[in-house]
Amino acid sequence: MQKLADHIILIGFMGSGKSSVARRLARFERMNSIDMDSYIEREAGMTIPEIFATYGEDGFRARELDLLRSMLIRDRSILSCGGGVVVRDESRELLKTLGTVVYLQVDADEAVSRISRPETRPLLTGPTPPTELLATRLRYYEDAADLTVDTRGRTIMQVSTAVQGALRNRGVL
Ligand code: S3P
Repeated sequence: MQKLADHIILIGFMGSGKSSVARRLARFERMNSIDMDSYIEREAGMTIPEIFATYGEDGFRARELDLLRSMLIRDRSILSCGGGVVVRDESRELLKTLGTVVYLQVDADEAVSRISRPETRPLLTGPTPPTELLATRLRYYEDAADLTVDTRGRTIMQVSTAVQGALRNRGVL
């Protein structure tokens, strides 16, 4: 896969720790970080549940794709993505070109137990159980990943250290 930029991109299911790991890593490495969900909320002037209610999941996915496109011309950053960014083929393909993609693995039960405010995640309160949602996405996460880090039973600190180590080994940090 030809890389068109050199960002560090965190993907994985809701509750895998992407945002917290990105913040920690950015602080340690003195890098800029962008949280996709927060960015989209700021741009839209709405919360994610409001965006889903007003524009549907498609409208939300279109906003994710817009941000990914803009990453082609942004300075090197750590980007923590929303858990469903991989479901659109176009987003997933673009994602792979934007830099080193790190997949944070988690299982559905642990993910759900880590999420303190499920009402902020429209798809967690929707008709598809988290186990099923994760099962349909696994192949997309695996397909997009350059690196995979298991987060099960690990703290944010342990996961950040593991991600940092893996990125150093690849010469990315
Ligand atoms: C979603 C995950 C959320 C957010 C939105 C949709 C998903 O992000 O983008 O609620 O489809 O899995 P987090 O993974 O940061 O919770």
